[in-house]
Amino acid sequence: MSQLNSLLSLNQLNQDQLLGLLELAAKIKQKPQDYSQALVGKSVVTLFEKQSLRTRVTFDIGINRLGGHAVYLDQQNGAMGVRETVKDFASNITRWADGIVARVNSHKTLLELREYSNVPVINSLCDLYHPCQGLADFQTIAENYSDLSKVKLAYLGEGNNVTHSLLLGGAILGMEVAAICPKGYSPDAQIVQQAQALAAKHGGKIIVSDDINAIKGFDVVYGDTWVSMGDDTPLEAVKSRYMPYQINQQMMNDNGISHVLHCQPAHRELEITSEVMDGPSSIIFDQAENRMHAQNAVLVSLIAK
Ligand code: CP
Ligand code: NVA
Repeated sequence: MSQLNSLLSLNQLNQDQLLGLLELAAKIKQKPQDYSQALVGKSVVTLFEKQSLRTRVTFDIGINRLGGHAVYLDQQNGAMGVRETVKDFASNITRWADGIVARVNSHKTLLELREYSNVPVINSLCDLYHPCQGLADFQTIAENYSDLSKVKLAYLGEGNNVTHSLLLGGAILGMEVAAICPKGYSPDAQIVQQAQALAAKHGGKIIVSDDINAIKGFDVVYGDTWVSMGDDTPLEAVKSRYMPYQINQQMMNDNGISHVLHCQPAHRELEITSEVMDGPSSIIFDQAENRMHAQNAVLVSLIAK
């Protein structure tokens, strides 16, 4: 991918690069055998400061399917910045590996990893962004709508890392993206501003609202946990705040919503009902599958030579 050597956030990409990644992801999904040697002889360290099912497994299996080798590191063999500095961590890994995938508590850690390594760094979730998730989300939407720039996507719930990647990526793609979140839980104002500027450039639209009625006429609704990793507030304590934003069948019917996404893990009967999650509008498990194809597009673009 021209002039890109790491992926920390989707707003590093221009529209051609983002569309190019989505196209490559679709090709890899359709003809995986064409890419089975793409990472032969390459090793990628996948580093996790937080829990994961989808991201951990899709990177591991995905790298394997590209012919490469994944080395999983959690915090049990020495937490970054505790047993040794992030700088030393990066300075060591860069001597062995061909790429670093990192899920970290703070975006600052990604910036440090990138500063002290000579190999691509891929953000697999931090406090601010979840770009790999966003790529899979747009790939999944593209499988159901021929022109992404005509799609209206509404995110419901806590304004967070996932919201930010949807706003930025959707803006670059010229989509209409709404973040509908309770008062006080909106996405970061500076990121919203960046997304609005990108939307203006690409003919898209960014809406931030606490009014659940704003979803009328949207094509796709999107849910995430109401409490993100690293926040130990019990879900029970936020239930009344978020319940009006629950994705349920009534809301789907009343507003003419066609498709539902959720990045998972999902708390059934809280942010989404089982009826919807397992129902005909759900493209949630395609979305989970696409994590692997989208990430493989990133790996092929950044690491395969
Ligand atoms: N959606 C997502 O990133 O899932 P995991 O936290 O299980 O990796
Ligand atoms: N916003 C969630 C996403 C999980 C994939 C979190 O950060 O925990």
